Amino acid sequence: MLHGKRILLIVAGGIAAFKSLELIRRLRERGAAVRCVLTGAGARFVTPLSLQALSEDRVYSDMFSLTDESEMGHIQLSRDADLLVVAPATANILARMAAGLADDLAATVLLATDKPVLAAPAMNVRMWTHAATVANVETLKKRGVTFIGPNDGAMACNEHGPGRMSEPEEIVAAIEAMLATEQPLAGKRALVTSGPTREAIDPVRYISNHSSGKQGHAIAAALARLGAEVTLVSGPVAVADPAGVRTIHVDSADQMLAACLAAGVIDVAVCAAAVADWKVTRPAGAKIKKKAGAQPPPLELSPNPDILATLSKPGPRRPALVVGFAAETENLIANAIDKRGRKGCDWIVANDVSPATGTFGGERNTVHLVSAKGVEAWPTLAKDEVAGRLAARIALHLAQPRSAEAAE
Ligand code: PMT
Repeated sequence: MLHGKRILLIVAGGIAAFKSLELIRRLRERGAAVRCVLTGAGARFVTPLSLQALSEDRVYSDMFSLTDESEMGHIQLSRDADLLVVAPATANILARMAAGLADDLAATVLLATDKPVLAAPAMNVRMWTHAATVANVETLKKRGVTFIGPNDGAMACNEHGPGRMSEPEEIVAAIEAMLATEQPLAGKRALVTSGPTREAIDPVRYISNHSSGKQGHAIAAALARLGAEVTLVSGPVAVADPAGVRTIHVDSADQMLAACLAAGVIDVAVCAAAVADWKVTRPAGAKIKKKAGAQPPPLELSPNPDILATLSKPGPRRPALVVGFAAETENLIANAIDKRGRKGCDWIVANDVSPATGTFGGERNTVHLVSAKGVEAWPTLAKDEVAGRLAARIALHLAQPRSAEAAE
């Protein structure tokens, strides 16, 4: 998959640096050439010798080394790479990247590069959720840096939460997606819905759900990477708009449907949004006042339009492929099969959203792909990887002649 590709791996100082050794091994197995830049702090966790032995190349670490600069200057290091990977990406190196510092070889290479950059963050959960890191990540994303992870879980500091570096296989999958030269979806138009909807009770209150938009946004990004022209219709979320995707922001299900219908003729629709099934029939025009001793106001609900079912309706404007999601807390497969039939879509991606699974808002997802062919169980993957796999399957499906499609 990565034959002939050149990866410049920047290893910063975190306990997760040990995983970078496995990352090098896996990248080399896939035919990539790996050259390493090791920061001073990184060298406290892994030795240059280990990196050198696995990469079979010399390791660069000194900004002011006469031999390093004469043999391979910092500009040349990035010029010679197809992709820069920062793994582990510590809070410190992310802050230096965001600030545009060039205070060591790694930061200078990252500032001087015009190549794509992938960062795999690894740090303590409070460092990851600190406002400074959140702002730095936002800045870097806006500048086009791609992030993989971090994952949720137990950490070396005996804490639990987001901050674990993604596993080497996840990072390899992200690298493969970024370096995919083929654009099998070039010329195809895709529509993706993502995030929750908000249904107003009054101007200050609403009904909604826990969707973060991570899964839907990752799907939009993955389809765009394969060359599709993507329109993403998103409910209110905190995740950034994906690069290279036209993103339309909406609040309610009615607005989401209107934006989807306005997207025009599309080849594939993926409905990953958690659309509220009901809305308040008559939202109050002013804030409902709480009166002492009075009963809470009754909420009369009416059904929202079903966007997936609307897009799946047979007709000349129906996309060639309509993919829905099924968010279930029990009888996952049976309910998903039933939902596929009722809504009229081609595929359903079934996921368990019981609180214990952490699917809503989490980094990983365990899905089953339900089609006319049957039910396919996928392993638990990062949401980016679920998105990558789904996008690849969509590309494969749309490349088939219509007669073969009909059989699916
Ligand atoms: O956003 P994340 O935090 O990353 O979480 C991802 C997710 C759990 C939201 C996502 O993977 C997912 O399951 N999305 C579908 C959520 C949902 O509303 O499922 P549902 O089973 O209630 O609806 C079935 C399908 O009909 C979905 O494709 C939904 O988008 C669609 N629908 C539902 C109601 C409605 N009025 N209009 C719709 O289009």
